[in-house]
Amino acid sequence: MRTVAIIVAAGSGTRAGGSVPKQFAPLAGKPMLQHSFDALTSHPEVDAVVVVVGEGQETALHAALGDVPFAIGGATRRESVKNGLVLAGDADRVLIHDAARPFLSHAVIDRLLAALGDHVGAIPGLPVADTLVSASGASVSREGLVRVQTPQAFRGADIAEAHAAWPADQEATDDAQMVRALGKTVAVVEGSAMLEKITHPSDFAAAEARFGASMR
Ligand code: C5P
Repeated sequence: MRTVAIIVAAGSGTRAGGSVPKQFAPLAGKPMLQHSFDALTSHPEVDAVVVVVGEGQETALHAALGDVPFAIGGATRRESVKNGLVLAGDADRVLIHDAARPFLSHAVIDRLLAALGDHVGAIPGLPVADTLVSASGASVSREGLVRVQTPQAFRGADIAEAHAAWPADQEATDDAQMVRALGKTVAVVEGSAMLEKITHPSDFAAAEARFGASMR
């Protein structure tokens, strides 16, 4: 069984500030992108890891990771994933991960791959702890809601079909949405507090503080 991981790192990363896009910024001793790359390449069930970077980011990629297989991303995350899927080629299982979520544990990957035994897709989620209201102030029940993270894991044929079928003029918030649009069920497994996305400058300090805490 061939399992390929795609790391999407083609965003401009401008909301994080700094002189380099956030995915190449130093974090806990190495470029942010290298954390997820190392976690995925060292997992015993992952056969290959491909990276998607933006045009002009090739030099930064090679400085961070050396000579690795890469594709050039698109204007949106969805297009970047699509280009990564082409590079990944035929795979039985595909993991799609945001470089902006650097602290990825093998335990999360294990839970996702185990769930693919029974489902075409699996995503990590965490329960919502805060009270939710709509913008107009109406209460929203948080029961049954989870905050969704990456990596997202899919059987190769199903994620390829989902990307091929998705309308080019429509955006998607994640890959699981595209698979569900085909009427297929995506399982939710336990995510990790370590996997929070780094978006703003202050997130770097919080991530440095999180680093070193036990990963699960
Ligand atoms: O911008 P945001 O943090 O939501 O992006 C999530 C992930 O998708 C990041 O790792 C980013 O580099 C990637 N991305 C991409 N191509 C884009 C936009 C975002 O690979 N066009």
